[in-house]
Amino acid sequence: MKEAEKHYPFLRACYRRPTGYTPIWLMRQAGRYIKEYRALRKKFSFIQMCKNPELAAKVTLLPVEKLKVDAAIIFSDILLPLEPMGISLEFKKNEGPVIHFPIREREQVDRLRNIEPEEDFSFLLETIRIVRQELEGKVPLIGFSGAPFTLASYVIEGGHSNNYALTKGFMYKDPATWGRLMEKMAEVLIRYLNAQIRAGVQALQVFDSWAGCLSPSDYETYVFPYSKKILDHVDKSVPLIHFATSSSTLLEWMKRAGGDVIGVDWRVSLSEAWARLGYDVAIQGNLDPVLLLSKPERIEREVKRILSEAGGRPGHIFNLGHGILPNTPVDHVVALVNMVHEYSSRR
Ligand code: CP3
Repeated sequence: MKEAEKHYPFLRACYRRPTGYTPIWLMRQAGRYIKEYRALRKKFSFIQMCKNPELAAKVTLLPVEKLKVDAAIIFSDILLPLEPMGISLEFKKNEGPVIHFPIREREQVDRLRNIEPEEDFSFLLETIRIVRQELEGKVPLIGFSGAPFTLASYVIEGGHSNNYALTKGFMYKDPATWGRLMEKMAEVLIRYLNAQIRAGVQALQVFDSWAGCLSPSDYETYVFPYSKKILDHVDKSVPLIHFATSSSTLLEWMKRAGGDVIGVDWRVSLSEAWARLGYDVAIQGNLDPVLLLSKPERIEREVKRILSEAGGRPGHIFNLGHGILPNTPVDHVVALVNMVHEYSSRR
């Protein structure tokens, strides 16, 4: 940790240093549940917002001001690196991302290009520089990417999937082409993440959102080598959070692949996850985002339970187990951040 950054609870927790309270930020903290965001989305598409550094910076800062979270996360999307690789896509209203020509053949994999981050992502790198400037050191800025498996699942399925049958089918039927695709994803992501560090992000999160659909042995064979390659090659000057949902069966493998912090969802208790991971790694999580739709008293009960499972041990970053839902009341989110700060500081 850089000398100048030693006072940030979020960064301290990533390195398991003691903090005066448990730091919190929320996956998808900048999004449709905020009315200012919805107003901007009436004028601009999601992609337009990502690619306009002033707008993206503004949206990145919205939750920091409104919620008093302990970190900002850059406004972007895990699917953006696909475009310069040669994979065209769009974000369809009410449908989510759609890949126009899903990858099914070896030739399609062979044609994929590596990225030139300074050219292909000048907008993102500029957003990072603007946000760092506007934050004036208030809280650290997190950069992110998807992990190779989660990105491969989108490009093979063509969008979201419930059972990942096409992705797994690809993997089982043609492991050599699968390996080539994962290798190419890994090369892209290493460049992409390191460019974000050079532009000024102070931590990184790698989202392997859908890896939990795999058996531990398939994770080991088809995913682990590539995730490990990325996590080994990303500059170690900033802490890295390695996240997946439904990952309770994969925790040991995810830790082996790498990360200073392992992000878990609500399907596993923090105390069990931490005991299995070992206490030489920090942990992030794990409130079910659906709980934010319930009454503040119910949220409070859950916050206390999660904090007690973390047991006051250094190295807990409070977060949701997955992204905030668009219909979440903002005041519940504000209340959540306050509760976490207040209850954890009393210990
Ligand atoms: O956390 C943040 O606030 C930073 C921004 C961020 C977005 N997406 C913005 C976004 C981050 C970190 C992501 C990550 C992301 N994107 C993941 C990994 C996390 C997870 O949820 O598992 C995934 C799988 C995606 C892919 C993606 N992007 C989907 C499936 C969708 C559609 C679903 C939805 O919520 O609309 C998106 C669109 C998207 N990414 C939106 C935002 C704010 C909504 C865009 C809009 O309609 O305004």
